[in-house]
Amino acid sequence: MDSTKSNATNSGRRDLSEQIKEVTKDTHVRAENTQLMLNYQKGQITLPQYKLLLCSLYEIYRALEDELDKNSGHPGVEPIYFPQELARLEPLERDLEYFFGPQWRKRVTVPAATLRYTERLREIGRSNPNLLVAHAYTRYLGDLSGGQVLGKITQKTMGLSNTEGVAFFSFPAVTSPHRFKQLYRSRMNSIELTEEERRRVLDEAVRAFELNIEVFDDLQKMLSITEGASGDGGKGKAPTTPLTITRSAVAQFTLGVCAALVTVGMGVYAH
Ligand code: HEM
Repeated sequence: MDSTKSNATNSGRRDLSEQIKEVTKDTHVRAENTQLMLNYQKGQITLPQYKLLLCSLYEIYRALEDELDKNSGHPGVEPIYFPQELARLEPLERDLEYFFGPQWRKRVTVPAATLRYTERLREIGRSNPNLLVAHAYTRYLGDLSGGQVLGKITQKTMGLSNTEGVAFFSFPAVTSPHRFKQLYRSRMNSIELTEEERRRVLDEAVRAFELNIEVFDDLQKMLSITEGASGDGGKGKAPTTPLTITRSAVAQFTLGVCAALVTVGMGVYAH
């Protein structure tokens, strides 16, 4: 984190979009190389894994988009507020309903790291909305970059023929991800920040990547345990026992409890 701070401080006059890419370069490599992402890229994702991943993405985007909506008029948010083009909550709800049925809300299961991530989003939404840009950048530009490849892998691996179950990866209001990313970067660069505020945004971006990595690692641990417990290697169909760890129980979530409750299941995170 120290190098992040000094980079940020020393390059204060450069565009925020360039700086943010630079300071998150190493953590991006680490995120790409988490076991979960490596497996995903190899097409080694099962339906139960994908469903659990969707649950975490749902909670993350629910918090992120709630806070962006609440702060849409804030000068640090307004330039990068693109709900029409980017909002992921509704597509995620459709995907979850597709896989879990109408009662899907009762079946959302997330590990502790996902809860920590959402708590951080809520906290900065309340106390420092300037930092939301770091999280919006990390998620949305990621979704429009490597995430597009992961979407194709998901579709192919799951044998899904159209957008059903993979709405998360699809951005119908973005005709060219490349051009949209350019627009997004220019909007980021238009945000007025003091040197101190800019440094904090850059630190927060590194933290956003770290939070994602922690989610992947937690999901990976769940996978290892539940696969061991299920005895079927986590492959094939959805779990026959519903995943019923509710949000209120998440705080007490332990891997042991998970192993006992879940017959099969694991999530992988894609961006
Ligand atoms: C399978 C794992 C991943 C792959 C293969 C991947 C690949 C890529 C690629 C090819 C780009 C485009 C780089 C460019 O246009 O210069 C990119 C950009 C990006 N990725 Fe990833 N990525 C992965 C995971 C992640 C994760 C987990 C996150 C964050 C949660 C993330 C966040 C980003 C962001 C924010 C950008 C935009 C960088 C910028 O232009 O400033 N990526 N990724």
